[in-house]
Amino acid sequence: MRVLGIESSCDECAAAIVEDGKLVSHVIASQIPIHAVYGGVVPELASRDHVKRVVQVIAATMEQAGMELNMLDGVGVTAGPGLIGSLLVGVSAAKTIAWALGKPLVGVNHLEAHLRAVFIERPALPYPHLGLVVSGGHTSLFRMDGVGSMRLLSRTLDDAAGEALDKVAKLLKLGYPGGVFIQRHALGGDPKAIRFPRPLPGKRLDFSFSGLKTSAAVRIKQHGRPEGSAMADFCASFQEAVVDSLVKKTMMAARQERLDTILVAGGVAANQRLREKLHEVAEAEGMQVIFPAAELCTDNAAMVAALSSAYLELGRDDGLALDADPNLPWPTD
Ligand code: KG4
Ligand code: ZN
Repeated sequence: MRVLGIESSCDECAAAIVEDGKLVSHVIASQIPIHAVYGGVVPELASRDHVKRVVQVIAATMEQAGMELNMLDGVGVTAGPGLIGSLLVGVSAAKTIAWALGKPLVGVNHLEAHLRAVFIERPALPYPHLGLVVSGGHTSLFRMDGVGSMRLLSRTLDDAAGEALDKVAKLLKLGYPGGVFIQRHALGGDPKAIRFPRPLPGKRLDFSFSGLKTSAAVRIKQHGRPEGSAMADFCASFQEAVVDSLVKKTMMAARQERLDTILVAGGVAANQRLREKLHEVAEAEGMQVIFPAAELCTDNAAMVAALSSAYLELGRDDGLALDADPNLPWPTD
């Protein structure tokens, strides 16, 4: 089965083709240069750029795969959650192609799609497992019992981990997206140099990053922007605090649910320190942790095509009534 996937929920306009579960081609048109000037995503600029690029991104993906549209068996698109103006562009494009070809169409949840990225390299991975989605918009733990069956175990009570990284990087005047720059500047720094708070200790599974962000902001205000090795120490310490929280709650959830496989996805899953530490801690307890390739952690359409494929194989067709929903709930059964 050949499936075209389209992703436009935030600031990446992406398309991909998956054939029988295998990734054939994928193209991402990043809007980073457009939003970098503002230090964050400007929704109106994002949707306008999606409109400009969506057709060429799809055409480039088809060309890379050496396929024509009429060779497709179905189309999948991110229907939510995300920015409504951005989502509408991908959904409209997907509906148009599905209608023109007379092929089935599915609208998928962005969070479930992120976790499905893992299956591109591990197509036979069995359920159930624990899924951590950690990005600029989300920090959530799910119990995954099958395609279309995910149960929320916990999420952040305030900021997402990526949001905290982005905001602190902005205060440090490091660049956007912040997580990438914090990781880069943390190299060679001492993660124990500054003891940032680890929020919500104890048995709660929820995450919280706003106190940590405020403590970094207060420090910058009091001591000014760190320079040289002090910048490396600051970034390494801040990154370590974010990673510690993620690792701790993820391990608690895995133990509580008695799950021995942990999937991690979303932009922050590209973080090297998170990858190292979670592997180390989980493997010491006999659990396996699986991350997608780093380029498939941030927003992409390969994950959308892969998840859509799984739904299309189950016979699902949302038809032309499909709509974008900025608050689309995750599928529960
Ligand atoms: O999944 P994603 O592309 O978009 C959302 O759905 O939010 O995630 C973007 C987030 C941003 O907050 C960015 O700073 C963070 O992922 N990020 C990273 C890294 N690469 C991207 N955070 C830490 N380390 C990285 N290497
Ligand atoms: Zn995302």
